[in-house]
Amino acid sequence: MNRVIIPLDVPSADDAFVLVDRLGDEADFYKVGFELYTRGGPGVVRELVARGKRVFLDLKLHDIPNTVARAVEAASDLGAELLTLHASGGPRMMEAAVAARSGDLKLLAVTVLTSLTPSEMAAVWNREIRSVRDDVGRLALMAKEAGVDGIVASALEASWIRQQVGPGFLIVTPGIRPAGADRNDQNRVATPGEAVRNGADYLVIGRPITKADEPSAAFSAVLREIQEEESEA
Ligand code: C5P
Repeated sequence: MNRVIIPLDVPSADDAFVLVDRLGDEADFYKVGFELYTRGGPGVVRELVARGKRVFLDLKLHDIPNTVARAVEAASDLGAELLTLHASGGPRMMEAAVAARSGDLKLLAVTVLTSLTPSEMAAVWNREIRSVRDDVGRLALMAKEAGVDGIVASALEASWIRQQVGPGFLIVTPGIRPAGADRNDQNRVATPGEAVRNGADYLVIGRPITKADEPSAAFSAVLREIQEEESEA
């Protein structure tokens, strides 16, 4: 099974499908985030599904339980396979989301945004932050107990998180850079092989593939690296 999810971080449906066409049949799992969803609408997701692609809808839901439940129903109807929500929305919000999902939809919790600094977290939660990792682990367990299917996490934290949550809970990791690739604005990166070794189930890999001269060749190279890692395991 292909574990690489390609984010469609583009401003229009047309741009998205140019990329999907360039990547070809082998690339079959795409992430649709706020920008494309807001500009291109749910039709982008429907079209991807109609083309036989799998869709990770990265909308990071965070609202009252009833509103989140209705949004989860809508995402299930669209045919998305993964959908994000904020664990900090709390157990009742997550339980309502879990109860509302249907079909193949799986829910992924976002724990602590990687952009947040400890001092920002201290200001938001009005308490001293001794370890960001402890908060990530606590929120991951809260999500698991609410019945959420997995989390989005750094590949560098994946093996630690796996120890906290045990097997069977999906770990999806962005911030992946093949050896030698441009880091762009990512600070803490792991290679595809490291991510798989650390227990990631899916890898979100954008610019190293989408900005390559030959995106489908870059995608194939990443797949080969992952397969090598899997065959050594
Ligand atoms: O191009 P790149 O590989 O950096 O893209 C990574 C994707 O993963 C982007 O869509 C980005 O928004 C998303 N993401 C991330 N870091 C997080 C959460 C999501 O890079 N902590």
